[in-house]
Amino acid sequence: MIREIMWVEKYRPQRLDEVEDQEEIVERLKGFLKKPEDMPHLLFAGPPGTGKTTVAFCLAREILGENWRNYTLELNASDTRGIDTVRTTIKNFTRFVDKSAGIPYRIIILDEADEMTSDAQTALRRIMEESSANARFIIIANVSSNIIEPIQSRCAIFRFKRLDEESVIKRLQFICNNEKVKCGVDALKLIYQISEGDMRKAINHLQEAAALGEVNVENVKATMTVTRESDINAMVDAAISGDFKKAREILYKLIMIYGLPETDILKMMFSAINGKKDLDLALAAKIFAEYDFRLIQGAHPDIQLSALLAELSALGQKKD
Ligand SMILES: Nc1ncnc2c1ncn2[C@@H]1O[C@H](COP(=O)(O)OP(=O)(O)O)[C@@H](O)[C@H]1O
Ligand SMILES: [Mg+2]
Repeated sequence: MIREIMWVEKYRPQRLDEVEDQEEIVERLKGFLKKPEDMPHLLFAGPPGTGKTTVAFCLAREILGENWRNYTLELNASDTRGIDTVRTTIKNFTRFVDKSAGIPYRIIILDEADEMTSDAQTALRRIMEESSANARFIIIANVSSNIIEPIQSRCAIFRFKRLDEESVIKRLQFICNNEKVKCGVDALKLIYQISEGDMRKAINHLQEAAALGEVNVENVKATMTVTRESDINAMVDAAISGDFKKAREILYKLIMIYGLPETDILKMMFSAINGKKDLDLALAAKIFAEYDFRLIQGAHPDIQLSALLAELSALGQKKD
């Protein structure tokens, strides 16, 4: 599966000490390790690729020990978050804590919480109150103001900043050494510029450039424009030829790793489709119009785009 070979996952820090640049945050959090009972609920806010999810998992690992996964519940935007489901899941999860095993509480990581409606957040606030004897919540959002005030006021807020050039370059050099890939400082500086302090983006550009042989300026430039177009093209081809699974893997890479906006993906797919022979383009146009509309209406983008790929698959199979 694509995730296992992605350097962003391979080099995701496992301990707080490995996290680059967010020193202030790391220091404050380390204070809680000495006396976990005193840790309040936490709210992590900040731009993408700055370590919010990573730090949440490092913290859970360090507080809960080697079996931390048994005591940690992660809910992100792609999970069902109808509030009844959330309530039942969280209630069941926090019913019991084995304090004799040295587990002070269970940890619930609510990633991408700013995608929850304010009604859902209001219900969440109640759930937080009901379960706080046995649980701590780590709520993650890009922008803290998208989280309702009553939740904010129950949390200690941590603001993640974009990573600085020195930290990003240091991490990229570490990865190159480990992967035995040649890299030049100019190329790393260029990667920093295009990634805007987003370590996820930086590492992905690094890996793309390295795949071309070595990390030099020329190869970094090549990763900037070509990859997306060729990824979109490969995705569309895979769908049309009936390989839905492969198409979906590429889609996830574009959304999650590159952070390409879904509406851009749709537009680029539409241009790619127009070059395809043997496809009923009139029908394809109708299908695209329908999904364009759904995305504007605020339907779940990754689900909608997956469904679109499935329809293209069906359309592709129809031709003969
Ligand atoms: N501060 C950091 N130090 C080291 N690596 C980082 C840092 N922030 C992000 N990364 C890298 O980027 C990837 C994405 O980070 P993540 O924590 O998921 O970001 P987000 O802030 O969007 O939740 C991680 O797998 C890791 O490889
Ligand atoms: Mg995250």
